[in-house]
Amino acid sequence: MKSIIKNIANSNTHTTILNKHYPKSSITNVTPNIIKHIGLNLHNNKNSPIYTIRQLIEDTFDASSYRKFDKYNNFGPIVTVKKNFDDLGFPKDHVGRSKTDTYYINDELLLRTHTSAHEVECFKNLSKSKDHNNKSISSLVNGHGYLISADVYRRDEIDKTHYPVFHQMEGTKTWNRFTHNEVIESEVNKMDQLMKKNFPSLTVEDVDYIKDDATHQNSKQDYMTDLETELVVKHMKKSLELVVATLLKHRYDHDASKDKNFKNPDIKMRWIEAYFPWTRPSFELEIYYNNEWLEVLGCGVTKNSVFTNADMASESQVGWAFGIGIDRLAMLLYNIKDIRLLWSQDNRFTSQFEGKEGTIFEFKPFSTYGITSRDISFFLTKELNPNDVMEIVRDEAQSWCYSCTLVDEFFNKKMNKKSQTYRISYQNLERNITTAEINEINDKVVDRLIKEFEIQPRN
Ligand code: DAH
Repeated sequence: MKSIIKNIANSNTHTTILNKHYPKSSITNVTPNIIKHIGLNLHNNKNSPIYTIRQLIEDTFDASSYRKFDKYNNFGPIVTVKKNFDDLGFPKDHVGRSKTDTYYINDELLLRTHTSAHEVECFKNLSKSKDHNNKSISSLVNGHGYLISADVYRRDEIDKTHYPVFHQMEGTKTWNRFTHNEVIESEVNKMDQLMKKNFPSLTVEDVDYIKDDATHQNSKQDYMTDLETELVVKHMKKSLELVVATLLKHRYDHDASKDKNFKNPDIKMRWIEAYFPWTRPSFELEIYYNNEWLEVLGCGVTKNSVFTNADMASESQVGWAFGIGIDRLAMLLYNIKDIRLLWSQDNRFTSQFEGKEGTIFEFKPFSTYGITSRDISFFLTKELNPNDVMEIVRDEAQSWCYSCTLVDEFFNKKMNKKSQTYRISYQNLERNITTAEINEINDKVVDRLIKEFEIQPRN
């Protein structure tokens, strides 16, 4: 696949990223294939659907708020372990920290796994802003938010909706605890009216936070009153419902402009309970789209500890935060079926988006080439996480890799060994690949598994 991705140098002792050299350590697992994506910033590229989704979400937040949100769209992806995990209250043994899930540069640095990694520094900036702490200003300007968009990195499975690099938007709205209840209520009313006007047929299934068990992780925080929690949760849910409904409306309005008989489908959403270490209570929002429920975002009431980690006075703030994955939302709204396409420079892809920023339309798929699968089966002689297999496949096959799945696993008593079978599917989006080419890649994958994980291939 022709790609925007360039080659970079690598050495045994250092990893070079955007001309900077980082010492390696025993935990280093970032690969050249991943490093090639750094700096591409699709969220800042006008010809990418990721850009349009970002922009439309930002506009919706600004329109529903008395005061515009601060925007951060240029944070680099290399952050400390502290920022990505510690500051947000991730337990030391949280799976997200493991090197099977996260790309480490060395013991201290990693490729951020989520935009939440920047919450604390953004709260620090917010608290330094001139009027955030000014009690004499008009009460309506109490309430201050920011939006962060960035590329994030995760070692993950391989299929047509997963790519190791994707984009998230993080956001928060935070009030100083004076005149806050009336401001929050007033914005909730404003959003309510907008909802009723623009989305009369929207139905939302709600779920409340836990009210009868103060020790439950989804109950309110001690320092907040019931009224504050109710209002913050209501404001958060309304804001996010409005954002998602507005994106869908952009798509439907476009369809209606092309087809006089087009009828807007009814929009359905539902809230479910969730858990995130830095919010309490926490929720996820799902939408009903093409006959299935899809998770679109996570959110919650910001914990007091996040504010204090940002040097804000303890118990001086109330607010909410959310994180949304932009790539899958773009795929859904434009009907792009293969996540790899978002990175393609094939003219048949890019020409559909050039000069189209701000609009959401049906992507026209172009002919694709055959998918060829190979099964590899082997006995394990030591621990092997499926994500490690995925990473080797990704490294060797790069954009030719369509999917990789663990299809079989059993324990052979006689051998006293575990056996696994993976099915790897190869496809080039732009041309047919030959059997020889596939065999060559597949052999390299097996060789590396033998070398790095001492697997014993079986037939
Ligand atoms: N960082 C979370 C993720 O990657 C998303 C998220 C959930 C962000 C809740 C938030 C939040 O700020 O409050 O899955």
